[in-house]
Amino acid sequence: MSKADLIVGLQWGDEGKGKIVDHMAQTHDYVCRFAGGHNAGHTIVIDGKKYALHLIPSGVLNPTAKNIVGNGVVLSPKDFIKEMVQFDNLDGRLFLSDKAHVLLPYHALIDQAKERLKGDKAIGTTGKGIGPAYGDKIARVGHRLGELLNPEKLTAKIVAYFEMNKPVFDAMGVDAPVESELLAELQGYKDVLGKHITDTTQLMWKIMDEDKKILLEGAQGTMLDIDHGTYPYVTSSTTVSAGACSGLGINPKDIGKVTGIAKAYCTRVGNGPFPSEDFGAEGDLLRKNGHEFGTTTGRPRRCGWFDAVAMRHAVRVNGVDQVSLMKLDVLDGFDEVKVCVAYEVDGKEINYVPYELEDATPIYKSFPGWDKTEGVREFDALPDTAKSYIKALEEMIGTKMGIISTSPEREDTIIR
Ligand code: IMP
Repeated sequence: MSKADLIVGLQWGDEGKGKIVDHMAQTHDYVCRFAGGHNAGHTIVIDGKKYALHLIPSGVLNPTAKNIVGNGVVLSPKDFIKEMVQFDNLDGRLFLSDKAHVLLPYHALIDQAKERLKGDKAIGTTGKGIGPAYGDKIARVGHRLGELLNPEKLTAKIVAYFEMNKPVFDAMGVDAPVESELLAELQGYKDVLGKHITDTTQLMWKIMDEDKKILLEGAQGTMLDIDHGTYPYVTSSTTVSAGACSGLGINPKDIGKVTGIAKAYCTRVGNGPFPSEDFGAEGDLLRKNGHEFGTTTGRPRRCGWFDAVAMRHAVRVNGVDQVSLMKLDVLDGFDEVKVCVAYEVDGKEINYVPYELEDATPIYKSFPGWDKTEGVREFDALPDTAKSYIKALEEMIGTKMGIISTSPEREDTIIR
């Protein structure tokens, strides 16, 4: 029986998971998503053709790999179908959990209305409806993908849901759907997605019993986790390793190697605490050199330095076996490179993530910079100062950096 390899983000998302997942998808039989929705995203270029992936697992780019979308995901049929049309034929290669929750256009309208109402307290969501869809799930009033198989019944259920919540929808400025239009919409979704909807928990168990090579693909990052991130400035799902179990119906013993993905610096999109954010010229340079603009929303990302305190938290929460350090080359040319090694809270130095991260002031240690790591493929070929930087990070977080990425190119990767 095989164990599944797991990839998780260790910062605030956008760590560069795409490159590593795509690379690993080449050697795995199945790639499975377990959480989040189309708030995630990465773009891949293969033979000059660009593919935008938000929810379809990266195994879709390997013609022999199969793809599973687990029950922990919220799936917008409309957006999912848009993503599917980039690929020729997904029959027999794409399996969607009948227990995944359906995200409908009204979820996005509610998300946007709530953000507007929050004013300067807004979370800075992607506006895709993720929070409202998970909210319905947890409040036990959501709609599952399995229900799409009976569009008439689901239409009646959604219409009744709107009637019951009319004052709320009115306050949000969200119109009730016209019954006949809703039915036609859901019927259209069933026609395309119906054949892919199945019991993916049984499928997970079967492929493990068959000793298949399985890769579990995380979305977002640990600091955006609903429980372990910077609540309420988080996404609405379990982004950490444990989410892979509940989001796919497997048990902790089914998990094999856990690879955590981290950038050599740090970014965040949306609002909320980010102690090592750099508001000056160096932050701007990180944004420029790292092309730090959101794939899903195009927003400029907030940029700053590697936060070793938050990283230790992430390594422990996820049970990380090795870290994959991404975008080392973005630090090329800096005279010195800073790392947040501790926080100061109420005049005291602490080395853990406090209840209110907002109150933490970073304490930095500086390391000498280097000229160029871009394109380097052997650890020994890195400049000495870059090697020292990586070794210092490993010591601070107590975990090996087994993979180091030195450019977006697949081959520009150091494996140790
Ligand atoms: P939501 O997931 O759209 O509700 O957004 C909640 C928070 O998570 C916001 O700060 C978003 O910017 C952030 N977020 C959601 N998805 C991603 C992602 O894929 N990368 C980085 N940040 C994300």
